[in-house]
Amino acid sequence: DWNMENFIAEQVSQIQKQVGDGKVLLALSGGVDSSVVAALLIKAIGKQLTCVHVNHGLLRKDEPEQVVHVFKEEMGANLVYVDAVDRFLDKLAGVADPEQKRKIIGEEFIRVFEDEARKLEDVDYLAQGTIYPDIIESGTKTVKSVKSHHNVGGLPEDLDFELVEPLKMLFKDEVRACGLALGLPESMVYRQPFPGPGLGVRCIGAITRDRLEAVRESDAILREEFAKAGLEGKVWQYFTVVPDVKSVGVKDHKRSFEWPVILRAVNTVDAMTATIERVPYDVLEAITHRITHEVKGVNRVLYDLTPKPVGTIEWE
Ligand code: XMP
Repeated sequence: DWNMENFIAEQVSQIQKQVGDGKVLLALSGGVDSSVVAALLIKAIGKQLTCVHVNHGLLRKDEPEQVVHVFKEEMGANLVYVDAVDRFLDKLAGVADPEQKRKIIGEEFIRVFEDEARKLEDVDYLAQGTIYPDIIESGTKTVKSVKSHHNVGGLPEDLDFELVEPLKMLFKDEVRACGLALGLPESMVYRQPFPGPGLGVRCIGAITRDRLEAVRESDAILREEFAKAGLEGKVWQYFTVVPDVKSVGVKDHKRSFEWPVILRAVNTVDAMTATIERVPYDVLEAITHRITHEVKGVNRVLYDLTPKPVGTIEWE
């Protein structure tokens, strides 16, 4: 008789059987899948698991802090926090092409993770948040995405860990239920999708630190205002984009020459097509007021009305 409690109990004993007293490594991004795997492994093998959280500087506001808080402080995990912000932003400096940016972020992620894996001794296993749709998609995918998705790349051959993939038979909603049953916070389990290259593909063109901060701060305001308006959990994905253009405005009786922030809020079933959310005007106005008054370097806010197709969900 299948239920979540039985599933968890069964996986816990299977993980214990598979790894014995071996050590397991996990790249913990803070996304739903890797978070649930982490929680399950902590329950099964505690400190035999080492979680590595790489902060590439392209995460949302407060995200790295939340990962450290939940897993290290609340769940008592062995967690290595890697501040790789400079490493990523230096590599990305001056790179404007979207696919090139994705490639750099994906490759650098593997290199940083590899460096951490080499520092740890006697690691035998690599845990991964593979879920059932990942397996079917890689086997039968006929429609190719227009963007490369460099989430998981390959580690070098000498780091040939045996894989631990306890979620590989679960669908996304079952993964969420599993996370809740393991005590993860709802904000983590129900969080909206977030691309591997993170805010990097929302800071259009060549990334600069100040424009990246404008993306991060405006995104935080958008999420706060959506939560206040009761839209959290109702809209599939929403975020802000800051293009590399400036326009003239007036701030404190002085001429300003600053960036616009573009708001995007979409609904979809499978991300192949998407419709825009009809956000109430008063919510849009409140967001506009806050962003233009609180975010440095921004003097305009625009709302993107483009469905997919013809637009994609992300701008890059
Ligand atoms: P697009 O922009 O192609 O996005 O309509 C569809 C969905 O995929 C996400 N996305 C990515 N996810 N790595 C990811 O992990 C990527 O490079 C990437 N690009 C887009 C996007 O956020 C949306 O949910």
